Amino acid sequence: MKSSTVYVLALAAVLSASGMSGFAHGTATDPAGQSTQGFHKRFKNADHWVKVFDDPARDIWQKPDQVVQALKLQANDRIADIGAGTGYFSVRMAKAIPEGKVFAVDTEADMIKYLQKLAGEKKLANLIPVSGKANNPELPESVNLVLIVDTLHHIDDRAAYLASLKPKLLPQARLAVIDFNESSKVGPPLKHRLSKESVIGEFKNAGYELAETLDFLPNQYFLIFKTSN
Ligand SMILES: C[S@@+](CC[C@H](N)C(=O)[O-])C[C@H]1O[C@@H](n2cnc3c(N)ncnc32)[C@H](O)[C@@H]1O
Repeated sequence: MKSSTVYVLALAAVLSASGMSGFAHGTATDPAGQSTQGFHKRFKNADHWVKVFDDPARDIWQKPDQVVQALKLQANDRIADIGAGTGYFSVRMAKAIPEGKVFAVDTEADMIKYLQKLAGEKKLANLIPVSGKANNPELPESVNLVLIVDTLHHIDDRAAYLASLKPKLLPQARLAVIDFNESSKVGPPLKHRLSKESVIGEFKNAGYELAETLDFLPNQYFLIFKTSN
């Protein structure tokens, strides 16, 4: 077996053992068969999840530095990292734009506690943890970039969620979404994945238009939207 195959299988086993493919529950589906309900998975223990999310082996396929570069950040950006987790992307973005702000939004109290400690340890005053609600990110300020990585599929009623974001978007704001392809060996159970096409459709229905598609991630689609009015 090739070493790259061994690696993918090993990582799939780790993610599976850590619950990335567990927690089955009933889901609603739209007429096209896509799940309209989020994957209700809890991420309670940050010290556990940091070993999964910040595993250096993830960098090989998640390509975080290339992702941040592709976002073309500007010095004064105001960014919402929705579903920030243990700050895998928030930290990189906060470091990239010391004069800007990164609101690291998460629904888990332990993630917020973890992010607060991390921001202090790394002396990143511009990394601001935000305790979001499942149906509203509760952003304290408007933003010109929203990043949602591996989190969209956890959100219920995404139409309402995307509508709740609108009043918090500055003119020319962009929304970047990265989530698992249906063909990826890693990621949530298949029935909880959202196809690229359905995500584009959901954003379109919510009043956003696709501005850019990036295709350098092997396991995920990477889409950038902007408001269409
Ligand atoms: C799979 S992790 C991804 C973490 C991070 N984006 C990364 O790439 O490492 C999903 C995170 O989203 C959070 N989450 C789930 N539903 C959410 C919601 N409705 N709003 C904000 N965060 C949410 C979870 O608590 C978890 O920390």
